[in-house]
Amino acid sequence: MIAVHDLTKLYAGRMAVNHVSFQVEPGQIVGFLGPNGAGKSTTMRILAGYMPPTSGHVAVNGHDVFRESLAVRRSVGYMPETAPLYTDMRVKEYLRFRGELKGLRGRDMRRRVGEVMELCSVTDVRRRLIANLSKGYRQRVALADALLHEPPLLILDEPTSGLDPVQIRQVRELLRSLRPAHTILLSTHILQEVENLCDRVIMIHHGRVLADDTPERLTARLRTLTEVYLEVRAGTQAVADLETLAGVRKVVEEPAEGGWSRHVLRVEPGRDVREDVMMLARERGWELRELHRRLPSLEDVFIELAAAEPARTV
Ligand SMILES: Nc1ncnc2c1ncn2[C@@H]1O[C@H](COP(=O)(O)OP(=O)(O)O)[C@@H](O)[C@H]1O
Ligand SMILES: [Mg+2]
Repeated sequence: MIAVHDLTKLYAGRMAVNHVSFQVEPGQIVGFLGPNGAGKSTTMRILAGYMPPTSGHVAVNGHDVFRESLAVRRSVGYMPETAPLYTDMRVKEYLRFRGELKGLRGRDMRRRVGEVMELCSVTDVRRRLIANLSKGYRQRVALADALLHEPPLLILDEPTSGLDPVQIRQVRELLRSLRPAHTILLSTHILQEVENLCDRVIMIHHGRVLADDTPERLTARLRTLTEVYLEVRAGTQAVADLETLAGVRKVVEEPAEGGWSRHVLRVEPGRDVREDVMMLARERGWELRELHRRLPSLEDVFIELAAAEPARTV
Protein backbone atom coordinates (compact mmCIF):
# COMPACT_ATOMS: atom_id res chain seq x y z
CA MET A 1 0.00 0.00 0.00
CA ILE A 2 2.92 2.31 0.74
CA ALA A 3 6.42 1.92 -0.65
CA VAL A 4 8.98 4.50 0.40
CA HIS A 5 12.46 4.15 -0.99
CA ASP A 6 15.36 6.34 0.02
CA LEU A 7 13.20 9.38 0.69
CA THR A 8 14.86 12.63 1.61
CA LYS A 9 13.49 16.10 2.17
CA LEU A 10 15.57 19.19 2.58
CA TYR A 11 14.19 22.46 3.92
CA ALA A 12 16.55 25.26 2.99
CA GLY A 13 19.47 22.87 3.02
CA ARG A 14 18.46 21.19 6.28
CA MET A 15 17.71 17.50 6.17
CA ALA A 16 14.24 16.92 7.65
CA VAL A 17 13.90 13.41 6.22
CA ASN A 18 17.13 11.53 5.76
CA HIS A 19 17.19 8.49 3.43
CA VAL A 20 14.06 6.88 4.77
CA SER A 21 12.76 3.57 3.40
CA PHE A 22 9.83 1.46 4.53
CA GLN A 23 6.81 -0.41 3.22
CA VAL A 24 3.33 -0.78 4.56
CA GLU A 25 1.16 -3.76 3.62
CA PRO A 26 -2.60 -3.44 3.19
CA GLY A 27 -4.71 -3.77 6.33
CA GLN A 28 -1.99 -2.80 8.78
CA ILE A 29 -2.13 -0.07 11.38
CA VAL A 30 1.34 1.38 11.47
CA GLY A 31 2.51 3.86 14.06
CA PHE A 32 4.99 6.49 13.10
CA LEU A 33 6.70 7.31 16.33
CA GLY A 34 9.22 9.97 17.15
CA PRO A 35 9.78 13.16 19.13
CA ASN A 36 8.84 16.59 17.84
CA GLY A 37 10.94 17.54 14.86
CA ALA A 38 11.72 13.93 13.93
CA GLY A 39 10.29 14.34 10.44
CA LYS A 40 6.92 12.61 10.84
CA SER A 41 4.72 15.37 9.42
CA THR A 42 7.08 16.00 6.53
CA THR A 43 7.05 12.34 5.54
CA MET A 44 3.28 12.15 5.83
CA ARG A 45 2.73 15.28 3.77
CA ILE A 46 4.87 13.78 1.03
CA LEU A 47 3.02 10.46 1.24
CA ALA A 48 -0.32 12.22 0.93
CA GLY A 49 0.84 13.98 -2.22
CA TYR A 50 0.89 17.45 -0.68
CA MET A 51 4.58 18.14 -1.01
CA PRO A 52 7.25 16.85 -3.36
CA PRO A 53 10.23 14.95 -1.99
CA THR A 54 13.75 16.24 -2.57
CA SER A 55 14.77 12.78 -3.71
CA GLY A 56 13.69 9.18 -3.48
CA HIS A 57 10.70 7.19 -4.66
CA VAL A 58 7.37 7.11 -2.93
CA ALA A 59 4.44 5.08 -4.21
CA VAL A 60 1.02 4.91 -2.65
CA ASN A 61 -1.47 2.30 -3.83
CA GLY A 62 0.80 1.78 -6.82
CA HIS A 63 0.92 5.47 -7.79
CA ASP A 64 3.98 7.66 -7.71
CA VAL A 65 3.30 10.54 -5.34
CA PHE A 66 5.05 13.06 -7.50
CA ARG A 67 3.90 12.14 -11.01
CA GLU A 68 0.42 10.92 -10.10
CA SER A 69 -0.45 13.09 -7.15
CA LEU A 70 -4.15 13.23 -8.08
CA ALA A 71 -4.46 9.44 -8.07
CA VAL A 72 -2.55 9.41 -4.79
CA ARG A 73 -4.93 11.91 -3.22
CA ARG A 74 -7.86 9.76 -4.27
CA SER A 75 -6.31 6.77 -2.51
CA VAL A 76 -5.46 8.65 0.65
CA GLY A 77 -7.53 10.13 3.43
CA TYR A 78 -5.12 12.62 4.92
CA MET A 79 -5.58 14.34 8.21
CA PRO A 80 -2.96 17.03 8.68
CA GLU A 81 -1.49 17.89 12.05
CA THR A 82 -3.52 21.06 12.32
CA ALA A 83 -6.60 20.36 10.31
CA PRO A 84 -7.55 23.38 8.18
CA LEU A 85 -11.18 23.34 9.21
CA TYR A 86 -13.27 26.29 8.10
CA THR A 87 -14.44 27.49 11.45
CA ASP A 88 -17.27 29.65 10.15
CA MET A 89 -18.97 26.62 8.60
CA ARG A 90 -21.33 24.19 10.25
CA VAL A 91 -20.20 20.58 10.52
CA LYS A 92 -22.48 19.06 7.93
CA GLU A 93 -22.07 22.01 5.61
CA TYR A 94 -18.29 21.64 5.86
CA LEU A 95 -18.39 17.94 5.10
CA ARG A 96 -20.62 18.56 2.08
CA PHE A 97 -18.21 21.23 0.90
CA ARG A 98 -15.30 18.84 1.30
CA GLY A 99 -17.28 16.06 -0.38
CA GLU A 100 -17.88 18.27 -3.37
CA LEU A 101 -14.17 18.94 -3.71
CA LYS A 102 -13.66 15.20 -3.63
CA GLY A 103 -16.20 14.65 -6.39
CA LEU A 104 -19.19 13.43 -4.41
CA ARG A 105 -22.62 14.38 -5.74
CA GLY A 106 -26.32 13.85 -5.11
CA ARG A 107 -27.33 10.64 -3.42
CA ASP A 108 -23.73 9.49 -2.91
CA MET A 109 -22.99 12.73 -1.14
CA ARG A 110 -25.98 12.41 1.21
CA ARG A 111 -25.20 8.78 1.98
CA ARG A 112 -21.50 9.32 2.56
CA VAL A 113 -21.82 12.46 4.68
CA GLY A 114 -24.37 10.65 6.85
CA GLU A 115 -22.12 7.60 7.14
CA VAL A 116 -18.95 9.40 8.14
CA MET A 117 -20.82 11.58 10.64
CA GLU A 118 -22.17 8.41 12.28
CA LEU A 119 -18.83 6.65 12.15
CA CYS A 120 -17.03 9.56 13.79
CA SER A 121 -19.87 10.35 16.22
CA VAL A 122 -20.39 13.92 15.07
CA THR A 123 -24.02 13.58 13.95
CA ASP A 124 -25.24 15.28 17.12
CA VAL A 125 -23.20 18.42 16.32
CA ARG A 126 -23.92 18.51 12.59
CA ARG A 127 -25.60 21.93 12.81
CA ARG A 128 -23.00 23.50 15.08
CA LEU A 129 -20.40 25.98 13.91
CA ILE A 130 -16.96 24.39 13.79
CA ALA A 131 -15.62 27.42 15.68
CA ASN A 132 -17.73 26.39 18.68
CA LEU A 133 -16.65 22.76 18.79
CA SER A 134 -14.31 21.26 21.34
CA LYS A 135 -10.96 19.97 20.20
CA GLY A 136 -12.21 16.38 20.40
CA TYR A 137 -15.12 17.10 18.07
CA ARG A 138 -12.96 19.04 15.65
CA GLN A 139 -10.54 16.18 15.48
CA ARG A 140 -13.40 13.81 14.69
CA VAL A 141 -14.75 16.15 12.02
CA ALA A 142 -11.29 16.15 10.43
CA LEU A 143 -11.30 12.36 10.54
CA ALA A 144 -14.78 12.27 8.98
CA ASP A 145 -13.44 14.49 6.21
CA ALA A 146 -10.49 12.14 5.66
CA LEU A 147 -12.89 9.19 5.33
CA LEU A 148 -15.40 10.87 2.99
CA HIS A 149 -14.17 9.53 -0.33
CA GLU A 150 -13.69 6.01 1.06
CA PRO A 151 -9.92 5.95 0.61
CA PRO A 152 -8.17 2.61 1.24
CA LEU A 153 -5.33 4.38 3.04
CA LEU A 154 -5.56 6.79 5.95
CA ILE A 155 -2.63 9.01 6.82
CA LEU A 156 -3.34 10.62 10.15
CA ASP A 157 -0.91 13.12 11.60
CA GLU A 158 -1.18 13.04 15.40
CA PRO A 159 -4.88 12.16 15.39
CA THR A 160 -5.11 12.17 19.17
CA SER A 161 -3.01 15.21 20.01
CA GLY A 162 -4.77 17.57 22.37
CA LEU A 163 -7.50 15.08 23.27
CA ASP A 164 -8.38 13.96 26.76
CA PRO A 165 -8.03 10.28 27.74
CA VAL A 166 -11.67 9.47 27.05
CA GLN A 167 -11.53 11.04 23.61
CA ILE A 168 -8.24 9.27 22.91
CA ARG A 169 -9.90 5.96 23.66
CA GLN A 170 -12.80 6.82 21.35
CA VAL A 171 -10.47 7.66 18.48
CA ARG A 172 -8.48 4.50 19.10
CA GLU A 173 -11.64 2.40 19.00
CA LEU A 174 -12.79 4.13 15.85
CA LEU A 175 -9.47 3.43 14.14
CA ARG A 176 -9.61 -0.20 15.21
CA SER A 177 -13.09 -0.50 13.75
CA LEU A 178 -11.79 0.73 10.38
CA ARG A 179 -9.44 -2.24 10.11
CA PRO A 180 -9.00 -4.31 7.96
CA ALA A 181 -10.76 -2.43 5.18
CA HIS A 182 -8.37 0.47 5.70
CA THR A 183 -4.65 0.68 5.97
CA ILE A 184 -3.67 3.29 8.54
CA LEU A 185 -0.45 5.17 9.06
CA LEU A 186 -0.66 7.41 12.09
CA SER A 187 1.95 9.52 13.77
CA THR A 188 2.27 10.11 17.44
CA HIS A 189 4.80 11.00 20.05
CA ILE A 190 2.85 9.03 22.63
CA LEU A 191 4.35 5.62 23.03
CA GLN A 192 1.38 4.01 24.69
CA GLU A 193 -0.72 4.80 21.72
CA VAL A 194 1.30 2.62 19.38
CA GLU A 195 1.62 -0.08 22.00
CA ASN A 196 -2.14 -0.32 22.25
CA LEU A 197 -3.17 0.14 18.67
CA CYS A 198 -0.51 -0.56 16.09
CA ASP A 199 0.54 -3.76 14.38
CA ARG A 200 3.84 -2.19 13.61
CA VAL A 201 5.96 0.71 14.75
CA ILE A 202 8.34 2.78 12.71
CA MET A 203 10.51 4.82 15.05
CA ILE A 204 12.04 7.90 13.58
CA HIS A 205 14.51 10.33 15.01
CA HIS A 206 16.36 13.18 13.29
CA GLY A 207 14.72 12.19 10.02
CA ARG A 208 15.99 8.63 10.10
CA VAL A 209 14.36 5.29 10.74
CA LEU A 210 15.68 3.90 14.01
CA ALA A 211 13.57 0.77 14.10
CA ASP A 212 10.73 -0.87 12.24
CA ASP A 213 9.03 -3.86 13.80
CA THR A 214 6.06 -5.06 15.84
CA PRO A 215 5.75 -3.51 19.32
CA GLU A 216 6.28 -6.95 20.87
CA ARG A 217 9.45 -7.68 18.96
CA LEU A 218 10.83 -4.22 19.63
CA THR A 219 10.45 -4.57 23.36
CA ALA A 220 11.70 -8.16 23.30
CA ARG A 221 14.80 -6.95 21.52
CA LEU A 222 15.63 -4.69 24.39
CA ARG A 223 16.65 -7.14 27.01
CA THR A 224 18.53 -5.00 29.42
CA LEU A 225 16.00 -3.18 31.45
CA THR A 226 13.79 -5.52 33.40
CA GLU A 227 13.24 -4.10 36.85
CA VAL A 228 11.50 -5.37 39.92
CA TYR A 229 10.04 -2.97 42.47
CA LEU A 230 9.33 -3.84 46.02
CA GLU A 231 8.30 -2.01 49.13
CA VAL A 232 9.23 -3.63 52.38
CA ARG A 233 9.62 -2.92 56.04
CA ALA A 234 12.92 -4.63 56.65
CA GLY A 235 16.21 -4.22 58.44
CA THR A 236 19.28 -2.45 57.16
CA GLN A 237 20.48 -5.72 55.69
CA ALA A 238 17.77 -5.75 53.01
CA VAL A 239 19.89 -4.38 50.17
CA ALA A 240 22.72 -6.80 50.81
CA ASP A 241 20.28 -9.70 51.09
CA LEU A 242 18.52 -8.80 47.86
CA GLU A 243 21.84 -8.52 46.08
CA THR A 244 22.63 -12.15 46.90
CA LEU A 245 19.67 -13.37 44.83
CA ALA A 246 20.66 -15.05 41.59
CA GLY A 247 19.89 -12.80 38.63
CA VAL A 248 19.92 -9.54 40.57
CA ARG A 249 22.60 -7.20 39.34
CA LYS A 250 21.98 -4.12 41.34
CA VAL A 251 19.67 -2.90 44.08
CA VAL A 252 18.83 0.73 44.59
CA GLU A 253 17.07 1.72 47.77
CA GLU A 254 14.80 4.71 48.09
CA PRO A 255 13.29 5.57 51.44
CA ALA A 256 9.53 5.65 51.73
CA GLU A 257 7.44 6.88 54.66
CA GLY A 258 6.63 5.13 57.91
CA GLY A 259 9.58 2.76 58.07
CA TRP A 260 8.90 1.38 54.63
CA SER A 261 11.60 1.35 52.01
CA ARG A 262 11.38 0.97 48.29
CA HIS A 263 13.86 -1.13 46.38
CA VAL A 264 14.47 -1.19 42.66
CA LEU A 265 16.17 -4.35 41.46
CA ARG A 266 17.92 -4.38 38.10
CA VAL A 267 17.53 -7.89 36.90
CA GLU A 268 19.35 -9.91 34.27
CA PRO A 269 17.54 -10.16 30.96
CA GLY A 270 14.88 -12.83 30.86
CA ARG A 271 14.95 -13.50 34.61
CA ASP A 272 12.00 -13.26 36.91
CA VAL A 273 13.15 -12.99 40.51
CA ARG A 274 9.79 -12.20 42.09
CA GLU A 275 9.32 -15.62 43.67
CA ASP A 276 12.82 -15.55 45.13
CA VAL A 277 12.10 -12.12 46.57
CA MET A 278 8.93 -13.46 48.18
CA MET A 279 10.80 -16.35 49.74
CA LEU A 280 13.55 -14.11 51.02
CA ALA A 281 11.00 -11.79 52.60
CA ARG A 282 9.33 -14.74 54.29
CA GLU A 283 12.63 -16.12 55.57
CA ARG A 284 13.74 -12.77 56.94
CA GLY A 285 10.34 -11.84 58.29
CA TRP A 286 10.04 -8.66 56.21
CA GLU A 287 6.69 -7.05 55.73
CA LEU A 288 6.01 -6.76 52.02
CA ARG A 289 3.42 -4.38 50.63
CA GLU A 290 4.35 -4.17 46.99
CA LEU A 291 6.13 -6.37 44.49
CA HIS A 292 5.95 -5.93 40.75
CA ARG A 293 7.99 -6.26 37.64
CA ARG A 294 8.41 -3.63 34.99
CA LEU A 295 9.12 -4.99 31.54
CA PRO A 296 10.88 -2.83 28.99
CA SER A 297 8.52 -0.42 27.24
CA LEU A 298 8.73 1.10 23.81
CA GLU A 299 9.98 4.21 25.52
CA ASP A 300 13.02 2.30 26.74
CA VAL A 301 13.56 0.97 23.25
CA PHE A 302 13.38 4.45 21.83
CA ILE A 303 15.75 5.93 24.37
CA GLU A 304 18.28 3.18 23.86
CA LEU A 305 18.15 3.35 20.08
CA ALA A 306 18.30 7.14 20.02
CA ALA A 307 21.30 7.11 22.33
CA ALA A 308 23.07 4.58 20.12
CA GLU A 309 22.46 6.60 16.99
CA PRO A 310 25.60 8.17 15.57
CA ALA A 311 25.84 11.94 15.73
CA ARG A 312 24.12 13.84 12.97
CA THR A 313 26.17 14.69 9.97
CA VAL A 314 23.85 17.36 8.57
N1 LIG B 1 7.96 24.17 6.21
C1 LIG B 1 9.14 23.98 6.82
N2 LIG B 1 10.19 24.77 6.55
C2 LIG B 1 11.39 24.57 7.15
N3 LIG B 1 11.63 23.61 8.05
C3 LIG B 1 10.62 22.80 8.38
C4 LIG B 1 9.32 22.94 7.79
N4 LIG B 1 8.52 21.98 8.30
C5 LIG B 1 9.27 21.28 9.16
N5 LIG B 1 10.53 21.77 9.21
C6 LIG B 1 11.64 21.20 10.02
O1 LIG B 1 11.85 19.87 9.60
C7 LIG B 1 12.06 19.02 10.71
C8 LIG B 1 11.01 17.93 10.77
O2 LIG B 1 9.75 18.51 11.06
P1 LIG B 1 8.38 17.71 11.08
O3 LIG B 1 8.32 16.87 9.85
O4 LIG B 1 7.30 18.66 11.31
O5 LIG B 1 8.62 16.77 12.34
P2 LIG B 1 7.55 16.06 13.31
O6 LIG B 1 6.24 16.02 12.62
O7 LIG B 1 8.15 14.72 13.56
O8 LIG B 1 7.51 16.89 14.56
C9 LIG B 1 12.08 19.91 11.94
O9 LIG B 1 13.41 20.23 12.22
C10 LIG B 1 11.30 21.12 11.48
O10 LIG B 1 11.72 22.26 12.19
MG1 LIG C 1 4.47 16.72 13.24
